[in-house]
Amino acid sequence: MSHKYWQDMAVYQIYPKSFYDSNGDGIGDLRGIIEKLDYIAELGVDMIWSSPFFLSPWADGGYDVADYRSIDPQFGTMEDFDELIAGIHSRGMKFMMDFVGNHTSDEHVWFMEALSDRQSPYHDYYIFRKGRNGGEPSNWASIFGGSAWEYVPSLDEYYLHLFAKKQPDLNWENPRVVKEVIDILEKKKKKGVDGYRLDAINYLYKDPSFPDVEPMEGSRYGFATEHYANKPRIHDHFKRLHDEVMEKHGLTTVAEVAYLDEETARGYADPSRGELDALYPFDLLNIDQEGYDKFAPVPFELPRLKKALAHWQSVMHDHGWLALFIGNHDQPRALSRFGDEKSYPSRSAKLLANAMYFLQGTPYIYQGDELGMTNPHYSSLDQFRDVEALNALSDGLRRGESSEHWLDLLNRRSRDCGTAPISWTDGENAGFSSGKPWMDVCSNYREINAEIEEKDPDSVLSFYKRLLRIRKGLHSVIYGETVFLELEDPDLLIYERRYKNEILISINNFSGKERIYRLPDDLCGADLLISNLGEPRFDPGSQMLSLRPWEAITFIKNKITDPNE
Ligand code: NOJ
Repeated sequence: MSHKYWQDMAVYQIYPKSFYDSNGDGIGDLRGIIEKLDYIAELGVDMIWSSPFFLSPWADGGYDVADYRSIDPQFGTMEDFDELIAGIHSRGMKFMMDFVGNHTSDEHVWFMEALSDRQSPYHDYYIFRKGRNGGEPSNWASIFGGSAWEYVPSLDEYYLHLFAKKQPDLNWENPRVVKEVIDILEKKKKKGVDGYRLDAINYLYKDPSFPDVEPMEGSRYGFATEHYANKPRIHDHFKRLHDEVMEKHGLTTVAEVAYLDEETARGYADPSRGELDALYPFDLLNIDQEGYDKFAPVPFELPRLKKALAHWQSVMHDHGWLALFIGNHDQPRALSRFGDEKSYPSRSAKLLANAMYFLQGTPYIYQGDELGMTNPHYSSLDQFRDVEALNALSDGLRRGESSEHWLDLLNRRSRDCGTAPISWTDGENAGFSSGKPWMDVCSNYREINAEIEEKDPDSVLSFYKRLLRIRKGLHSVIYGETVFLELEDPDLLIYERRYKNEILISINNFSGKERIYRLPDDLCGADLLISNLGEPRFDPGSQMLSLRPWEAITFIKNKITDPNE
């Protein structure tokens, strides 16, 4: 694969509402991001991706856009946006915008027009159908629970919403919709956007016959993903967006995709096809739940994570590019989920970075993970805000499950776990806001916060800075093949990356136990690249490493120093 600039960069994801509040209204805003740009630049990332901040009634955290062309006043103004982009560029970073193209808000003017009159040209911007047998057009379930169809009495029709009912799906079969999207993307480019994260983009094409599907247990609705995810015709849309917008304007893309098989993944991201630059396999981390139900958790078992990672590494090597992530605004905090936040918080937070970010792909760092933030551990159900969590909660209570059960579940699994405000200081409201934050801050902000960590060379933040600096330009990391070792081991996550003579090995003890590991013979004489506990306990004679609880080490041998090699 020929080298592209984005293959050697790291991305920082901001969820603006929870990042930093500059004006004391309790809500993170664009000026708040501007104030923290030096913090982000010092971390050593190359690009900032922000979740949406466009006009939205906020039914789904801003992923329900009511106007793509206006900044939501709670976040600031268009001038703030311009200043933000200029501030990012002046620090040598780039800006990636989240583009939500599968659906709009029901408060978007297109949808309001669509509802007003069946003859309106906007009616065909969305997917309306007549009911069948006195009910919905099909038994498709919404991803956020309940039916994927909503009845509109004035039209005697239903509209499709794969997500919340306030997120009607756009009809990409209508060429006018595609034209509108292209126009929006081009206008943003003129504003200085350098790339797009394309939200739920593999759902654009739906089987127009909307067949009924097997219902889920205890429900009349069923998951219909086979009828809307990754349908072959979607390639036409990707190609067109690529040719008419992305390539033409030098924009990079990362596509949020789920339910992908190997062939489809390669079909999307193989550079020779010219569709998408990189994939963000959304369901990669669904390894501690039953199927697609995030509120049916199963204990985390390391081999499942290793196999999922190994699979994606091999599928994409030489066939495309991957986003590497351990968390985002849709997930609980990685440290609470995969690490040991009680006994080894700092060590295990660093280990997660070491385990993930020497793989092949672009590191995506979710705000706060670089500080080792944990789930906020709320004490009351009233503290949760997210639509997915609240829908699941009301379904659960309706089924007679207890509030205690749901408090525990939401504290472990909900998206709110990852969107609690960033802990900046040990002061009031964790330094996030001088007013009352829209969501309660994490209870441990006095111990885990940016101000303390910036001063501590041994903090999680300092480790991230070191890792990102060290990683840059390493040939084995950019180009090398990934080979996982000890795939069935319940505690050790180990992989090698090789390119020409350079060999890198990342060794991670995901357990509170001491473990012995013998370094492979061909790594004899390798140099330490980074570790989370200082000098490793290593016997060069026997090549034996004695790993302490949650110890993470990366070695490198025959490091290539010529950038052109
Ligand atoms: C994926 C986004 O990451 C998520 O937050 C959102 O709810 C859905 N897409 C729908 O836009």
